[in-house]
Amino acid sequence: MFGFFDHRRQPDIRRIGPQSAQDCAQIHAQSFAHSWSQADFESLLAGRDVIAEAAVAAGPWGKSRKLAGFVLSRLVVDEAEILTIAVAPRFRRRGVGSALLATHLASLAGRGAKVLFLEVEAGNHAALALYAQFDFHQIGERKAYYRKADGSSEAALMLRRDFV
Ligand SMILES: CC(C)(COP(=O)(O)OP(=O)(O)OC[C@H]1O[C@@H](n2cnc3c(N)ncnc32)[C@H](O)[C@@H]1OP(=O)(O)O)[C@@H](O)C(=O)NCCC(=O)NCCS
Repeated sequence: MFGFFDHRRQPDIRRIGPQSAQDCAQIHAQSFAHSWSQADFESLLAGRDVIAEAAVAAGPWGKSRKLAGFVLSRLVVDEAEILTIAVAPRFRRRGVGSALLATHLASLAGRGAKVLFLEVEAGNHAALALYAQFDFHQIGERKAYYRKADGSSEAALMLRRDFV
C-alpha cells in the first residue's frame, strides 16, 4: 500500500541531490517553525561538502515514491555537523529517524568524519531521545537562542558525537 513502511524490514535509505529539494522543503515546513525554501535546499544539496540521505516511502508494488524523511550534514575535513534532520509527520515513530541516522553515521565515518556536532532546541524531547540512543552528549548551551512564533524563546543545546 502506498506510503507505508514494512515494519519487518529497514526503510530504503538513499543518497539524495538537488532533485529532492522540493520534497525536503515540504517535510522541513511540516517539521520546523522557520522553514527553509526549495531554493535553500537546492543550493545545500548541490554543495560538495554536504552529505544528504533520505528514507524513501514504498509505493504500490514496491515502487519508490515520495521521501519520508531526510538528513543533511556538512563535512569539512574530519568534522561534520548535522544541518537538519526531519521525518514527515505521518511517518514518525516507525524507526525512520533511527534508520536514517544509523546510515548517515556510517556514511560520515566512511568519508573520514571523526566528530559530529549538532544543535537542538532544549524542549525537543523526541530529537533528544533519538540523539541519546546514538551516543551524542551535550557540550554546551545557548540560552534564549530560538525565537518562537509566540514571542517566547528557547535554549539551543550543542551536542557532540565522536566516531571511535
Ligand atoms: C526527531 C525525529 C526526526 C524522529 O524521527 P522518528 O522517525 O519519529 O524517530 P524513530 O521512530 O526512529 O524513533 C527513534 C527514537 O527517537 C525517540 N523518539 C522519537 N519520537 C519521539 C517522541 N515523540 N517522544 C519521545 N521520544 C521520541 C525515541 O527514543 C525513539 O526510540 P523508540 O521508538 O525505541 O522509543 C522526528 O520526530 C522529527 O522529524 N521531528 C521534527 C524535526 C526535528 O525536530 N528534527 C530534529 C531537529 S534537531
